[in-house]
Amino acid sequence: MNKNIITHIKDNEIVDTLKTIFKELQLIELKIFEYEEFFHALMHVDPKMFIVEINDVKNPYLKIIKIMKKSVLTRDVPIIVITKSKSKELFDQLCHLDIQAIIYPPLYISIMKLTIESVLKSEKDREMLLSTQDIQTVQTVMISSLATLAEYRDPETGEHIKRTQNYVKALATTLRKDGLFVDELTDENIELIYMSVPLHDIGKVAIKDNILLKPGRLSGSEFETMKTHTTLGYETLINVGSKLKSSAFLEYAADVAYTHHEKYDGTGYPMGLKGDEIPLIGRLMAVADVYDALVSKRVYKESMTHSDAIDIIRSGDGTHFDPRIVACTLKLEATFQNISQTYIDADHLYKSNSQLATLLENNLLKKILVVEDSRIVRTITKNQLVALGFEVDEAEDGVVGLQKVQSNKYDLILLDLEMPRMNGYEMATEVKKMSQHPIMIAITAADFNITLTELKTFGIMGLILKPLDFNRIATNYAEILRAKE
Ligand SMILES: [Fe+2]
Repeated sequence: MNKNIITHIKDNEIVDTLKTIFKELQLIELKIFEYEEFFHALMHVDPKMFIVEINDVKNPYLKIIKIMKKSVLTRDVPIIVITKSKSKELFDQLCHLDIQAIIYPPLYISIMKLTIESVLKSEKDREMLLSTQDIQTVQTVMISSLATLAEYRDPETGEHIKRTQNYVKALATTLRKDGLFVDELTDENIELIYMSVPLHDIGKVAIKDNILLKPGRLSGSEFETMKTHTTLGYETLINVGSKLKSSAFLEYAADVAYTHHEKYDGTGYPMGLKGDEIPLIGRLMAVADVYDALVSKRVYKESMTHSDAIDIIRSGDGTHFDPRIVACTLKLEATFQNISQTYIDADHLYKSNSQLATLLENNLLKKILVVEDSRIVRTITKNQLVALGFEVDEAEDGVVGLQKVQSNKYDLILLDLEMPRMNGYEMATEVKKMSQHPIMIAITAADFNITLTELKTFGIMGLILKPLDFNRIATNYAEILRAKE
């Protein structure tokens, strides 16, 4: 049986006491000194327990334990906290962490030994309850937990995972439709690829903060360290595979972690693989990852426009990327743009929209109804607003929209004007009859014949031309609110 215990203790006396106990109980102690090592250890040693000394509320392990408790992979690792502090604030925080024990020194060997033994015993009882049937479930859940854990450490993620997953899926299905890679791209494999993409950067969990979160350019040696996220990720996934009985899914996950920075002409890393030597999932991910990095804002750079990003993908044709995948990306340009807009990073939008932030913070605008017949426009609008923190309902025409307004309370209706069954003017006329009705703003494709004066006769107080600009919605809404006062 595995007997690894991870410890992070600064006090020498405590270290000595624990050493004696571990020896008596034949446990293996793995000491960690910096918290970056902790994630690495967690992945590799399958610890039976974690014992940590925490003496103030600023200690980073408080946050780390919270993260551990959120992940199915690590939440059952028993934790004992040793603290010398009598602070009530710290005590309160510890009580909310769902840990096994809080110990105040001096440490008595007999008591401490008893505590460790009983924690280990209850852990063993819990393990016995896990039937083999659960293993498949555990495997699936574990993978998503690994990805979540990576997200906590990676500043880039946010919606990055959802976007890259969807770019890769769009590429895979279109390539197959065009008769390319048909043997590999079966329905089942496309699904496996889609599920494994979130694990591509899992190795970043073990990269230190000063490199991972550095705002400026990385130095030569820092970049070398950063590159190891590919091999670290690969090793971790292979390791998980060997413990859980390897699966096609884990093979894909290991492949994408290992090869997403390889280049088609052999100049990538970590192996310098060339052409078709690079697994297909690595070649797909390379395009998706680069496109997404270019159009997204990062700590060290601003975002680039879609067409500039596409130019860069095109210029990597045959050197960085597989020409077949570049051709497919160019074909899917509109789809790529839609995906990036649908899963846009919330803080990116939020920071560039100070007016929106004010409305949200002051609770002036909470619930929005989007009435729009185009499904794609509706979905994009809804996702963006939800990402910003609004509650959003949707309706595909005036009839459904009116029903919703009658049975719900909204602050704002974003209203398309041209729609089948009941158009925006008709719906607004009905809404206007209600004694207390939400503010209505029309959203319409460039139609310069409509004037706001005209719209106001229908009760519509604002007009915004497509494509939607959220800052303009916010400004418009704030102005209408002010005029109402
Ligand atoms: Fe990466």
